[in-house]
Amino acid sequence: MRLSNFFIPTQKEDPTDAVVASHILMIRSGMIKQLTSGVYSYLPLGYIVFRKIEQIIREEMNAIGGNEFLLPALSPNELWHETGRLEDYGDTMFRIKNRELVLAPTHEEVFTSIAKPNLVSYKDLPKMWYQIQTKFRNEARPRSGVLRGRQFTMKDAYSFDATWEGLDESYKDQDKAYKNIFTRCGLDFFSVTACSGAMGGSESEEFMVESNAGEDIVAISDNGSYSSNIEVAVSFKDKIGRKNSNLNYEEFHTPNVKSIDELADSLNLNDKSRLAKSRVFVDPSKDENAKDEYILVLVCGDDEVNETKLQNLVSLAIRPGHPEELLQVTGADAGSIGPIGLKNKNVRIVADHLLEDADELISGANKNDYHIKNIDLKRDVANIEYHDLRVVKDGELTFDKKSKIKITKAIEVGHIFKLGTKYAEALGALFLDKDGKENPIIMGSYGIGVERIAAAYIEQNHDKNGIIWSGEIAPFNVHLISVNANDENVRETSDKLYELLSNKSLDILYDDRVDVRPGFKFMDADLIGVPIQVIVGEKNLKDNNIEIKIRRTGERIIVGREQVIEKVNELLT
Ligand SMILES: Nc1ncnc2c1ncn2[C@@H]1O[C@H](COP(=O)(O)OP(=O)(O)O)[C@@H](O)[C@H]1O
Ligand SMILES: [Mg+2]
Repeated sequence: MRLSNFFIPTQKEDPTDAVVASHILMIRSGMIKQLTSGVYSYLPLGYIVFRKIEQIIREEMNAIGGNEFLLPALSPNELWHETGRLEDYGDTMFRIKNRELVLAPTHEEVFTSIAKPNLVSYKDLPKMWYQIQTKFRNEARPRSGVLRGRQFTMKDAYSFDATWEGLDESYKDQDKAYKNIFTRCGLDFFSVTACSGAMGGSESEEFMVESNAGEDIVAISDNGSYSSNIEVAVSFKDKIGRKNSNLNYEEFHTPNVKSIDELADSLNLNDKSRLAKSRVFVDPSKDENAKDEYILVLVCGDDEVNETKLQNLVSLAIRPGHPEELLQVTGADAGSIGPIGLKNKNVRIVADHLLEDADELISGANKNDYHIKNIDLKRDVANIEYHDLRVVKDGELTFDKKSKIKITKAIEVGHIFKLGTKYAEALGALFLDKDGKENPIIMGSYGIGVERIAAAYIEQNHDKNGIIWSGEIAPFNVHLISVNANDENVRETSDKLYELLSNKSLDILYDDRVDVRPGFKFMDADLIGVPIQVIVGEKNLKDNNIEIKIRRTGERIIVGREQVIEKVNELLT
């Protein structure tokens, strides 16, 4: 590709609205351009990279027997209503105003609707179907460029099996394919146990790239035996236990105490574990005539409520109560809520396991500016349930006590689920088994974000000058620079090299621009980040030499003009 004829609008300055490296560098290197919040145009350079990633994904999907489809982005409301997801997706789904259509955020429903009339016997199973297609999600906070967009490309695959063992095999095949894909894309990745709640499945695994630009938080053990999304992570911790002092509970005045920290300060306490943190959540009723359910959640004062664990326990729709609701249900504002003396007697009370049967607790009195001390949950709070509801913290022991947990940020690049029969049941996708009995098809679903892989790669592979591509997803193998294209010898030598290198079936980006300063060309080359730069300059050429620069290390090698091809080949293998 001749740069004189290739649209790469590189920028010297960082865009003002970009924070993370991949976003900044994708804009600066002319890979993408924002159209509106969370929506990007893919410029020629970016599109080359995205297509290379798609090709790797395609090859690995085909290798496990995948059939490639292309389904429409538009799909009828009716279909989504049948599985309940028209309602469940809420505002994240884009809806068309003048037709009963949505822009699909994923394709379980549509694929299942194709399976339904076609996969009708155990003889038709198993099947592995996939597509690489544009998804639409009305993300509340699109950010970090293509890392979280409102329109993005996903490879989504769906397995259809007759047996649960079959599903295990399909899931294992995808797991293996994902590992191949991320390895071939040059990512340093790991997998974690994930939450499958929203999809309604049993087992699920996310593929993660450790990065500060990530929005996921993961718990990894030092010995590598445990890794989990924080949403479902567990650790080993002793219960805070009973002191058995048998003191009666009593209210005390706590003016201006609005938080656990302020409460601990006012009592001169370092250990906050017995300051029970109380939060009120609402599970909105699905039925207009039914009442919303209120849930009071108790955790130790130095812990946080894990909202995903709470969702898994209660319902996906559960949300924190609004200030007016808190007042109405408890009689107090957020800082003074507790399990004793709630205004509404029908509140469901759930506490974290660490508090099981604890006594001498301090919590809000459900009366502003008052707290209660010496609460004994066993004695004083009826119908309390205990569940694992806390967020695991850095430095805690793994559940098997063999290792320590580290908490870190990561980018989710892929996600695989065992869906089970949720979609087949909702849509009536049944098959006849060997005994002539009708059963719902057992499904799995497997997603990868194409642009997100590119962004995650850049997060892991860049320096202050730009991107550092390598391997299969590099947009080009060689960046050939004609330093001063006005010089006849330089131009002719470069042209010749371009031809020779292209004949070796390498992808060459050839900076043949005239009237562009050498410094500018070098800066562009480092910014775009092609692995090898072949620099044809007047000075070296006088001695019949050419310079090769390795982008990642900055190492420069001078070779005779006849040795260039050989050297480039050697460096690329
Ligand atoms: N808004 C987005 N922008 C870019 N890629 C996304 C976005 N949402 C999801 N992806 C990609 O698609 C894959 C599958 O998505 P999925 O697990 O359904 O999404 P989520 O975890 O956000 O609910 C993710 O692992 C990620 O790589
Ligand atoms: Mg996911």
